Amino acid sequence: MSTPHPPAGSAARCPWSAGPSASSTTPLYGPELDGDRMTLLYEEMRAEHGPVAPVSMAPGIDAWLVMGHRELLRLTREEGDFSHDPRHWGLLREGRVPADSPILPMVGWRPALLFADGQQHRRMRAAVSDALARINGHELRRSVRAAAEGLIASFAGRGEADLVADYARTLPMRVISGLLGVDDRTGRELVEAVAGTVSATSGSADASRRMGAILYGLIKEKRSEPGEDITSALLKHPAELTDEEVLHNLVVMFVAGNQTTVNWIATTLRILLTDPAFRSSLAGGHLSVDDALDLVLWRFPPTQNFPARYATRDMRFGGQDVRAGDMLVLGLAAANADPEILPADGVPVVGNRSHLAFGAGPHTCPAQDPARLITRTAVDTIRHRLPDLELGVPETELEWIKSPWSKGLGALPVRFGRPQLPQGAVPPQSAGDLAPPGTAPWSASTFRPSSTVPY
Ligand code: HEM
Repeated sequence: MSTPHPPAGSAARCPWSAGPSASSTTPLYGPELDGDRMTLLYEEMRAEHGPVAPVSMAPGIDAWLVMGHRELLRLTREEGDFSHDPRHWGLLREGRVPADSPILPMVGWRPALLFADGQQHRRMRAAVSDALARINGHELRRSVRAAAEGLIASFAGRGEADLVADYARTLPMRVISGLLGVDDRTGRELVEAVAGTVSATSGSADASRRMGAILYGLIKEKRSEPGEDITSALLKHPAELTDEEVLHNLVVMFVAGNQTTVNWIATTLRILLTDPAFRSSLAGGHLSVDDALDLVLWRFPPTQNFPARYATRDMRFGGQDVRAGDMLVLGLAAANADPEILPADGVPVVGNRSHLAFGAGPHTCPAQDPARLITRTAVDTIRHRLPDLELGVPETELEWIKSPWSKGLGALPVRFGRPQLPQGAVPPQSAGDLAPPGTAPWSASTFRPSSTVPY
């Protein structure tokens, strides 16, 4: 960064405390948290503290929010200084994280790639990346479209819908369930358990246990009867993951992949419905849906802040005195808006994908291609099937959810005229039955046979 920054967190710091000084921290949680104000808040913190600011993520959970693009690249790339393993976390080691803290289900250690460094991370990452690489893009697109058309059919007769509740919130979870090899009934249970786990409420721990029980059942089933799905691919990968490791890597895929994709779909639809540049240029051919998808990743990254790294030593970082054991949160939205990397008008150049919405370094999201394919297909299907779609309320009434982590819309009310649905698109009988009758929602061909992937 061009300007020097005072060590804001260090002066008032209690010598035995872990985490930044409480006197200067900005809370990113609570009933007063205004989802619409977050962008402004980042700029206020940047002006006051520079690229790394002291924040609190939950009661008693102080951390550093890394908002500089350059600092975030360093945070994600230098594993030696910044570990992914929460067992390095000072507050936790000192027993100062309440057992019912809403943050624990998100950052508590699990034997999964997201919480591992070095060789252990590479081993699990290889299994997850290889399993994801087997997804057959063509079949995935077909499956997403069929599921999307079933959902659209379920509300098409109403002439209005909430595209968050009626569409975006259901689709990715069903898609990911299918890819993991979960049947419809189990998928419905898993949907609820995962939602409870990441809800950051006092019920999160129970939901997390329920989620574990369902996934152990799935692993047992796939061990005795493997299919063409991600779970089976993980179980037979040469990395030889234990059942426990497979379970926790599945949890990470669910948690990391669901709400992010929900947000990406809904925010892109919002942009397409409200931004005059996109409304006119989609017809005229200058800006594409992919440009809208990228704009969302720049301006409204589906995970605005991502947990977390833990400093392995005392250091000066981004103008702050960071101590060994401090938690550092990836400020993805703030880093994308860093004036150091944006053009003078603050608008990212079309086609530039140097945003940090997917993180960076060895832990960068391994599912960027399937996530884009799911999101793009979900958006395209709505546009084609409901061609005269328009916003059902003034844009000023749309609200971002209140979350320190997630950047997503609470609701997206729309109205539309006559839908253009294909013959055979039948509304699901239940939330778990999304495919047209007579077809399995997730045919085995969505997944490439294992013989086509050279391990
Ligand atoms: C099918 C959907 C998705 C799946 C299965 C998925 C899966 C994963 C997994 C397994 C990781 C951990 C990687 C590691 O620790 O090595 C991860 C990380 C991440 N993913 Fe995704 N993801 C999905 C969609 C998304 C979307 C839509 C976004 C946002 C645009 C996103 C943003 C991230 C970020 C920010 C990280 C953390 C990177 C870091 O810690 O440096 N993911 N994802």
